[in-house]
Amino acid sequence: MRTDTLDTVWVVALASKWRAFTEENTAWSLLIIVVTWLVMIIVYWVQPGGPAWGKYRLKRFFMTKPIPGPRGFPLIGNINLMASPLAHHRIAAAAATCRARRLMAISLGDTRVIVTCNPDVAREILNSSVFADRPIKESAYSLMFNRAIGFAPYGVNRFVSRIIAEHRAENREKTQDFVDVLLSLQGADKLSDADMIAVLWEMTFRGTDTVAVTIEWILARMVLHPEVQSRVHDELDKVVGRSRAVEESDITAMVYLPAVIKEVLRLHPPGPLLSWARLAISDTIIDGYHVPAGTTAMVNMWAITRDPDVWTDPLEFMPDRFVIKAGEVEFSVLGSDLRLAPFGSGRRACPGKNLGLATFSFWVASLLHEFEWIPSDSNSVDLSEVLKLSCEMANPLRVKVRPRRGLNRSY
Ligand code: HEM
Repeated sequence: MRTDTLDTVWVVALASKWRAFTEENTAWSLLIIVVTWLVMIIVYWVQPGGPAWGKYRLKRFFMTKPIPGPRGFPLIGNINLMASPLAHHRIAAAAATCRARRLMAISLGDTRVIVTCNPDVAREILNSSVFADRPIKESAYSLMFNRAIGFAPYGVNRFVSRIIAEHRAENREKTQDFVDVLLSLQGADKLSDADMIAVLWEMTFRGTDTVAVTIEWILARMVLHPEVQSRVHDELDKVVGRSRAVEESDITAMVYLPAVIKEVLRLHPPGPLLSWARLAISDTIIDGYHVPAGTTAMVNMWAITRDPDVWTDPLEFMPDRFVIKAGEVEFSVLGSDLRLAPFGSGRRACPGKNLGLATFSFWVASLLHEFEWIPSDSNSVDLSEVLKLSCEMANPLRVKVRPRRGLNRSY
């Protein structure tokens, strides 16, 4: 008989002899345990930011200055905020209610989270080395790789594996592509097949969805603001002319189209909540508050780009705000100015930002050069959003197009 089984037998034998273990006393003990548990749940929950923050502050004997934030519900905290298809709206509303736009604490179950809707605090978080690294291995796996593969439609794994196998088999000395570069990594940088599949899949799904969603938002705005579309058409006619198609190099000669694109990224950032997969690897101070290691940080870029303290008339569609005037420096959306950083900022910013920007600028320029975009007879443009992998149009765009360079016919 194993020793742990023997121990159990002894405990039961002793307990049966012990008068205190009456049914009544057992019931009282259970009641005390349950009441203590409920009291602890309430003590954790009543703290600003909800249960995860309450648990942490109790361990520190409530010595740390609390970060303001909604309590949410006992045990689950503010999971309801994130579960919403408009999480960025709800988080912004909660921050306004708690007067915590600079820094807000929330609990997602047992996970402590900080969120900011302020560009200065966003810079502190995104450019801090504490939040720069990927989460440690296990978390990285569940937050990125497993998620990437987990979301992949059936067959992607096999599909991507076949591409890797083909590259291994081929002698590809002449044309090196991204898969060849991954396969060439050696030593500490060498990737397992699973990691390689995850990287390739991550690049594919991050790169295609965001670009497609951005193009849709830009075209929707063009239909809604025909006067803006007509100015883009004028610029295209001047720079490209109607005799040929747009080339990538034409974009650099344009001023108004890039301004239109920036204004669309401001009002409809495809990733409205930045950096949800960043964990603090050590204790740190953010905006004067102590933030313990293991806390997840998020930046609500959507709230920043609609903040009247940051932007004049933030809800108005005004591309001219980005047209460079004499003596002004061009506004960069690549992460140096946190008032509009749709690709993130710092070491964990989007690695595909230049490719993404060049791709959708070229596509939009071509689509607008070839066609005039007009409202469909039956569907008006609806700017309602839904947050999936990216922030998409809840009701996909349905429009009519009229060729500009060819026959004068509507589709
Ligand atoms: C409209 C185009 C795009 C937008 C708006 C966009 C936006 C973003 C944002 C906001 C992040 C998270 C940054 C952060 O957490 O602070 C991100 C990460 C990432 N993006 Fe993009 N992206 C775009 C296109 C692309 C393209 C074309 C690729 C690749 C070909 C790509 C690959 C990635 C990858 C791999 C990450 C994860 C980086 C990391 O976690 O370290 N993205 N992107």
